[in-house]
Amino acid sequence: MAPLSQIPVRCSRGTYQVTIGPGALSLLPQVVSKLGARRVAVITDSHVAPLHGERVRQFLPPETPLYVFPAGEASKTLETIGGMLHFLAEAQLTRGDLVVALGGGVTGDMAGFSAAIYLRGIPVVQLPTTLLAAIDSSVGGKTGVDLPQGKNLAGAFWQPSAVLCDTTLMETLPQRILFDGTAEAVKYGMIRDAALFRTLAAPSGLQNHLQEVIARCAEIKAEIVAGDEFDRGERALLNFGHTLGHAVERESQFAISHGQAVAIGMVAVTRWAERRGWCPENLHLPLVEALKEYALPTELPYPWERLTSAMLHDKKRRGDHIQLVVPESLGRCVLKTISVEELQRGEGNS
Ligand code: GLY
Repeated sequence: MAPLSQIPVRCSRGTYQVTIGPGALSLLPQVVSKLGARRVAVITDSHVAPLHGERVRQFLPPETPLYVFPAGEASKTLETIGGMLHFLAEAQLTRGDLVVALGGGVTGDMAGFSAAIYLRGIPVVQLPTTLLAAIDSSVGGKTGVDLPQGKNLAGAFWQPSAVLCDTTLMETLPQRILFDGTAEAVKYGMIRDAALFRTLAAPSGLQNHLQEVIARCAEIKAEIVAGDEFDRGERALLNFGHTLGHAVERESQFAISHGQAVAIGMVAVTRWAERRGWCPENLHLPLVEALKEYALPTELPYPWERLTSAMLHDKKRRGDHIQLVVPESLGRCVLKTISVEELQRGEGNS
């Protein structure tokens, strides 16, 4: 087996490791014992439990309690968080014990948030099972839950104590879900690493270099989080394509997936920047080609005016300005504060 990749993440509470590769899960007993946890509770969803629940429990004591909630974004509610907190209390976990989050982004965000607030904070180890969770949500400590008014409106910064990303868990992922996560990998290439971008843009680049791609994305995220753990500055670079993407997701009533929406958002903002002379003309062309390699959409499905109006509800808006991540070249993006009026000024995707 190929050696595991280890990426350290520096944060205010110390340094934790993201371990990536086939068999990373087998390090779980070692992680539990290093953290000195007496008891462990596993949180997962109804989709992942039958696929990977037993495999994870084989590395834990047989009496380890398991909480399974219905899979899907619709479960990302305060009610589900309430259920998780009751479960942790029933299981009598103490501050020295451990929550294990097994699953994709919804599970990681909610199990992480439950761990952040149960007893005012107990350790959590993330075991991501999707590419999106592996390269984004499991690393960096953003946890949270949706409110009826919008996505991720309540939450906490709560860094995991370790992330074990076992790439063999991704073998069961439908191609559509794997490719959805690839939009985020392409994003890392666009914001920080032209070589990563080129790897992904090559035919089957992700499939041929899965461990290497996850490791490089985690490394970039670790660098950014180390510099801005609490999202007051450069961490916003991770939102490349997201402000417009969130508007696309919302307008489609979530029929367009997160990865698809981010792909559309990255292309649209790149073309918008080209027209302003902020980046080379035609920078969007290699981006479109790379995204097409993963069957991701690249055209705006709604008029620009409709999307820019929807963007005004973005939680990152400050008064009549909005912060946008804008590409300067392949592998380099910068933050720009744009007035709402400038954004709305008829600059569509044509
Ligand atoms: N998902 C973006 C961030 O962690 O800041």
